[in-house]
Amino acid sequence: MIFYFTGTGNSKWIAEQIALALKDQAVNLLDADPEAYHFTEKDYLGIVFPVYAYAAPEPVTEFAQKLKSNGAFTFTVCNYSNVTGHAMQRFSREGMYVNSGYGLLMPDNTTVIGSSYDTEETTLEKLRDASKRLDAIIERIKAKEIGIFESREGENPEENSEKMLGLFREKRSFTEPFHVAEDKCISCGLCERVCPAKAVKMQDGHPVWVKEKCYVCTACINRCPVEAIEYGSKSQGVYRYTFEKYNQKVKNDQKNRRG
Ligand SMILES: Cc1cc2nc3c(=O)[nH]c(=O)nc-3n(C[C@H](O)[C@H](O)[C@H](O)COP(=O)(O)O)c2cc1C
Repeated sequence: MIFYFTGTGNSKWIAEQIALALKDQAVNLLDADPEAYHFTEKDYLGIVFPVYAYAAPEPVTEFAQKLKSNGAFTFTVCNYSNVTGHAMQRFSREGMYVNSGYGLLMPDNTTVIGSSYDTEETTLEKLRDASKRLDAIIERIKAKEIGIFESREGENPEENSEKMLGLFREKRSFTEPFHVAEDKCISCGLCERVCPAKAVKMQDGHPVWVKEKCYVCTACINRCPVEAIEYGSKSQGVYRYTFEKYNQKVKNDQKNRRG
């Protein structure tokens, strides 16, 4: 069983590819009851998550704490756009002990910090590369290698992981800066439907952020079909990313080149 959490689709794609290769299932952990699953030592138990501030998102850690692995082979694939810090080590300590962990470099979806680590060009490059890097990871999972691999930890990873996460929880996880340009908004309600924190509600045809904090997964801002959502002034002019949109571009480019 492969569980995932995602804002903009990278983790879902990764979980689905692994599930396909292991003839297993990929499940969004927000739709699952961790206590309803029973594993044996014949099973694989994987968790795929995006790195947020050098750590796993809170719902991922909370979900994993409630799983009982019962000898299943446990692993995690964290995906990140720049640096992982000790995200996997922390997850293995505080969420679920993992036999192996892999980092996979993927396009950036931060949007709300005033810049992106990627441009459209580097996003496409990362996606073109991701399939073969993921295939190599899957082979190592199948071989049940033990250890933490392919992680880009940066300097002082333990100390910086602590610092970044503290900052994120105290200062960066507030919904207050989110707002919508009502003249652009087409009232489709997608932002409400995709918010995993249920922090967005449609009121009089436009989104309102009804919770003080959210996971800052950026699904609302990146998935808005008319780019009507902003995060203070920080997101202005920053390009919007979803896996589905950019993966389609990669496929179209490949098709055009072939023919
Ligand atoms: C709130 C937030 C914090 C993030 N923090 C980090 C980070 O510390 N290091 C990093 O390399 N990428 C970071 N990212 C980028 C994501 O981990 C990366 O783009 C990931 O592949 C997104 O996965 P998803 O499409 O499944 O949501 C962050 C993204 C968000 C939204």
